[in-house]
Amino acid sequence: MSQHNIISMQDEQRLFTPSPSGVTGTHIQSLKEYETQYKRSMEDNEGFWAERTNELLDWFSPFTSVLDADMDTPDIRWFSGGTLNVAHNCLDRHLELGRKDKTALIWQGEPEEDVVTYTYEELYEEVCRFANVLKKYGINKGDRVALYMPMIPELTIAMLACVRIGAVHSIVFAGFSALSLQSRVMDCEAKVLVTADAVLRSGRVIPLKANADEALKSCPSVEHVVVVDRAGLAEQDKLEWHNERDLWWHQEMRQNDIAPYCECVPMESEDPLFILYTSGSTGKPKGVVHTTGGYLTYAAHSAQWVFDIQESDVYWCTADIGWITGHSYIVYGPMALGATTVMFEGVPSYPSPDRFWNIVEKFGVTIFYTAPTVIRALMREGLEWTQRHDLSSLRVLGTVGEPINPEAWMWYHENIGKGERPIVDTWWQTETGGIMIAALPFATPLKPGSATLPLPGIDARIVRADGTDAEPNEGGHLIIRKPWPGMLRGVFNDPERYKSTYFERFPKMYESGDGARVDDDGYFWIMGRLDDVINVSGHRMGTAEIESALVAHPTVAEAAVVGMPHPIKGESIYAYVTLKAEEEETEELRGQLRTWVRKEIGPIATPEILQFAEELPKTRSGKIMRRILRKIASGSTGDFGDTSTLADPSVISELVEGRTELTGS
Ligand code: PRX
Repeated sequence: MSQHNIISMQDEQRLFTPSPSGVTGTHIQSLKEYETQYKRSMEDNEGFWAERTNELLDWFSPFTSVLDADMDTPDIRWFSGGTLNVAHNCLDRHLELGRKDKTALIWQGEPEEDVVTYTYEELYEEVCRFANVLKKYGINKGDRVALYMPMIPELTIAMLACVRIGAVHSIVFAGFSALSLQSRVMDCEAKVLVTADAVLRSGRVIPLKANADEALKSCPSVEHVVVVDRAGLAEQDKLEWHNERDLWWHQEMRQNDIAPYCECVPMESEDPLFILYTSGSTGKPKGVVHTTGGYLTYAAHSAQWVFDIQESDVYWCTADIGWITGHSYIVYGPMALGATTVMFEGVPSYPSPDRFWNIVEKFGVTIFYTAPTVIRALMREGLEWTQRHDLSSLRVLGTVGEPINPEAWMWYHENIGKGERPIVDTWWQTETGGIMIAALPFATPLKPGSATLPLPGIDARIVRADGTDAEPNEGGHLIIRKPWPGMLRGVFNDPERYKSTYFERFPKMYESGDGARVDDDGYFWIMGRLDDVINVSGHRMGTAEIESALVAHPTVAEAAVVGMPHPIKGESIYAYVTLKAEEEETEELRGQLRTWVRKEIGPIATPEILQFAEELPKTRSGKIMRRILRKIASGSTGDFGDTSTLADPSVISELVEGRTELTGS
């Protein structure tokens, strides 16, 4: 990596004009075409969306109204009166459309030789079987099913089985702890939990069902647990089993009464489709609710235009299905389009740092969607790993989760994209359901580090704190003015929080919580979260959640958590901890506290640095000044701005000294 590439995002001037797609039927072929679509979508918003959904989806009965929206309450309804089923759209109709024998899913397990492919017909049959298993155990329309699973095909099958019968899935990332699983299962009152004996990760076998057993000690709603045998723990006598509750996936799927067909339940457009918990700036994670017609329309719309998915593509999104990216862009978006989608169980670095490139070459991947943190990590490993593989099949590259720094963008562009392939940097959120701001790969000129322009249909703006429009280049709050089909429809069981988090501060607008600016060309530059949420390797963590985990430890009096810049992860977690008076600040306790957080929330929440602090910088009214803590965490030793409201300004120098002692820098 040469020094000249390291240019900050503030003065990034480079522009990469799109080259031809090399395929016929590119969806949006020029900037002009994008502009025409965008203009149309703003002038005749409802007409635009009615047309898109009818082009993309199969409705059992047509909708009678495109949009009924009240952004104040808020009460948003798309495609009222229409009925459809997501599994029908992702599977059944493809059998009629000549895709019966087309590969729907290519699964690459962590061991190189573990590869399973499913045609659309095979996937359809497995999904029907599991839908019948769920029905057998009493799951009906509207019931919640929790999925706590590794990246194995059974996860995709379980999702589609739920939506086939109208059950609402709630996927909990397998890296979350027993306690995190417990709070999510309790909140949504799931009746069934699907899990696996273990997760395979970097050559290790990590028990998973054991966490589920622990979690379910206080989840009375769960009647059955379906367990996939991934690692053979039962054969080794390493699995606890509850006869009255636990069921083996493989046994249930092959029972005589389980048929390979199952009627789809027609769903109202606004029937809930799934719940996905995400961290917020306060309290426990929120159960973001997405509904049927609007979500699928939006997932398919954005997948088609942003990735330019064609019939012949082999599409791979490297996210975990436990996050929204996997929901929308491994399963629902690509499958609604009848694409071939790749699912990978492992990690980029195991057994060697060319694992991703090996997979690209092995399956001839044409569209590749990953996270900046992965690119930065692989960049470090050197070019020998990319040069070993033929990456010529790739035609579109994407990123998601955090701003991509221009040097990582250039590396991706030059070494993976051979200086030619477009990179779509996609800005969106769990709540938005799908990609909101991104380049269309063969239409939009690219600027490294910018998510570029809003998708047609998306009225994204930057506003000041008082809600007025910001000027070009003036940083402000990123908001969305018009409703769009993929937007969240609620926070499960908490209408108050739904309104106050997203629709209160700026009346009649959706507040994203991100800061951004728009340049003179209308390009969006995302600046990061404006609230107390940090972004670790593209994963959202609420600082309040980590703080409450820390103060739950018997030795801790007070804790404050902030983000600090990290060269690979983007941000990492920095925790300041004040112990109770009688406790001693030891290395052992520091280690215990980090392990504690890991156990309470999951490995992704482990503080990178945990500093003991006699006192935290507080105002006279007792409010912690996080601004100062962020500065100290990032290594600042001076220039703390206005500190006149601090009750005791000497706290700062003590904290700076403490940090220096701890980190040696
Ligand atoms: O801060 C933004 C950041 O990730 C947040 C959303 O996180 P989550 O709901 O977990 O969804 C992640 C995947 C969609 C946003 O509020 N973010 C996401 N994508 C980008 C981004 N920041 C900058 N550029 C992006 N492309």
